[in-house]
Amino acid sequence: MSHELSSIEAVQTLLHDHAYVADRALSTVVFLALTLERPLFLEGEPGTGKTEIARTLAHALGRRLIRLQCYEGLDAASAVYEWNFAAQMLAIRTAQAAGENVALKETLFGPEFLIERPLLDAMRPQPGGAPVLLIDEIDRTDEPFEAFLLEALSDYQVTIPELGTIKAAEPPIVILTSNRTREVHDALKRRCLYHWVDYPSFQRELDILTARAPAASATLSREIVAFVQRLRGEDLFKKPGVAETIDWAKCLLALDVLELSPEVIADTLGAILKYQDDIARLQGLEASRILDEARQSLPPT
Ligand SMILES: Nc1ncnc2c1ncn2[C@@H]1O[C@H](COP(=O)(O)OP(=O)(O)O)[C@@H](O)[C@H]1O
Ligand SMILES: [Mg+2]
Repeated sequence: MSHELSSIEAVQTLLHDHAYVADRALSTVVFLALTLERPLFLEGEPGTGKTEIARTLAHALGRRLIRLQCYEGLDAASAVYEWNFAAQMLAIRTAQAAGENVALKETLFGPEFLIERPLLDAMRPQPGGAPVLLIDEIDRTDEPFEAFLLEALSDYQVTIPELGTIKAAEPPIVILTSNRTREVHDALKRRCLYHWVDYPSFQRELDILTARAPAASATLSREIVAFVQRLRGEDLFKKPGVAETIDWAKCLLALDVLELSPEVIADTLGAILKYQDDIARLQGLEASRILDEARQSLPPT
């Protein structure tokens, strides 16, 4: 076993100590991923804490975090390695100018001219133990890249034709995230432990807010969370994530707001809603209706 965590509770506590509030289901799947050395695939709406868990885990375990941010057109050269073409050219020129005969292949395709990208980097031993490899927003790449990833993750090794195969002595802790803008292929999911990260419950979101914006009073925090939770039930183009809840609380704190009112909400909507249509809907009557409903829904302290 590549970690010192002996139980699901230990995972939950460690994360909590680092200001990450995980429910039982998420703590379980993290514990299993660590123990079975399987990649963890986290899917869910934006702003629900998928990327953050990789960051927190790396920090809490004292491991290096290696992040591969996915995007359309991401290829092996940017994900695994690339030859430093400019440096190779320079080496050739220098050798020519000095009248030397460069033994081409051996010199030019050696480690000195290799640019290591995240996937290769993650196979290298690191001080403190195997790194956390975050493959973020995999839904932004295309299927050929997924197939390629599947191969790299199935035996934790990378082959460079000129240098040979580099295999991780200890497999990295791999976390893949997807905002589900498209379905990721079954084969890749099957390789991983899967967990759907949902919007948190009222209580858990309150815990998150307490951990991340401790300066907010209990009363204000409860109102904020109740309001955002209600808002997610509305017909919006883009629902606010946990990130927005935290941002909003920080804005309200900066404005010395003690409790919500329709006016305060109207003035600060830009912190929770990022589309003009959604903002327009919420302005005026809608905001005060939702605020009333939110206050009524508040559980007793
Ligand atoms: N369970 C949680 N515990 C603590 N903070 C959280 C949690 N979920 C979300 N957050 C906060 O929300 C922010 C955005 O989360 P992030 O991981 O970027 O979302 P995602 O990757 O799912 O889009 C984080 O920086 C963190 O501050
Ligand atoms: Mg993310």
